[in-house]
Amino acid sequence: MSAASWASHFGLSRTPFGKAIAPKDLFSRQSHAEAVARIHFVVLESALGVITGDVGAGKTVAVRAATSTLDPTRHQVIYIANPAFGTRGLYVTIVRALGAEPRYLKAELMAQAQDLLAAEEEERHRKVILVCDEAHLLEPAQLEELRLLTNAHMDSSSPFAGLLVGQPTLNRQLRMGTFAALDQRIATRFSLKAMDIGESAAYLRHHVALCGRDSPLFADDAIARLHRVANGLPRMLNNAATAALIAAASENKDLVDDACAKKAVAELTRD
Ligand SMILES: Nc1ncnc2c1ncn2[C@@H]1O[C@H](COP(=O)(O)OP(=O)(O)OP(=O)(O)O)[C@@H](O)[C@H]1O
Ligand SMILES: [Mg+2]
Repeated sequence: MSAASWASHFGLSRTPFGKAIAPKDLFSRQSHAEAVARIHFVVLESALGVITGDVGAGKTVAVRAATSTLDPTRHQVIYIANPAFGTRGLYVTIVRALGAEPRYLKAELMAQAQDLLAAEEEERHRKVILVCDEAHLLEPAQLEELRLLTNAHMDSSSPFAGLLVGQPTLNRQLRMGTFAALDQRIATRFSLKAMDIGESAAYLRHHVALCGRDSPLFADDAIARLHRVANGLPRMLNNAATAALIAAASENKDLVDDACAKKAVAELTRD
């Protein structure tokens, strides 16, 4: 059954649970809203912040939500999707994002990155927000580079706001002795929680409503099962709910009942 036809089977304008969700359409559960508030605090204070959470918990989505509301004439977001580019890479990314050609020698490159960051704030009156996603992949040498950058103004103020986003192991990595100096500079840490069952139910309703259907689509016991298999994690819940919808449509049901949820779970947990 094609995506368009199973969506229309339920009276939906398109398939729900897609990845390309606009910031204004995001589901604002409490932990998400708290993460967004912390990110705004980091930006406002030019501080360093850490957001952790399990795979698919909604970390990147929270960053997108928070940065989408910033005035682009006053802020410059440098987003590093994956830091697995070795040393030099951090400075090269910053220099390029600020419109310059990276210098070759490492020592010069670092000074260049620092100068550009300072100029952005002092001359262009724009605040740089350096977001490093998948930050649990940062190598020790890269964390050291980050520490050196935050040191630029002899500790009086940081020339940028920094956000490290990653899996829960990130906190442990930062706590290791050698990074104590960086760890102490972290002004806020937040762990994005999984959804509870009430939030999972509201999440499902929210996405279905975005596709134009206000009446219930998932039976309560089906919701409970999908929530359990997803551990309350949005990405996993998207997948489970989609599989359940396809199962229901292929059986010509107009509601996802527990039998459909069971099928979806079996499909997703199959080895
Ligand atoms: N607040 C939300 N509103 C709507 N959908 C959400 C929300 N949070 C998460 N999602 C959905 O869950 C998916 C996964 O979220 P996201 O990519 O932010 O997870 P993550 O924590 O960054 O995962 P990873 O550790 O794999 O990078 C998103 O693509 C989106 O479909
Ligand atoms: Mg992510």
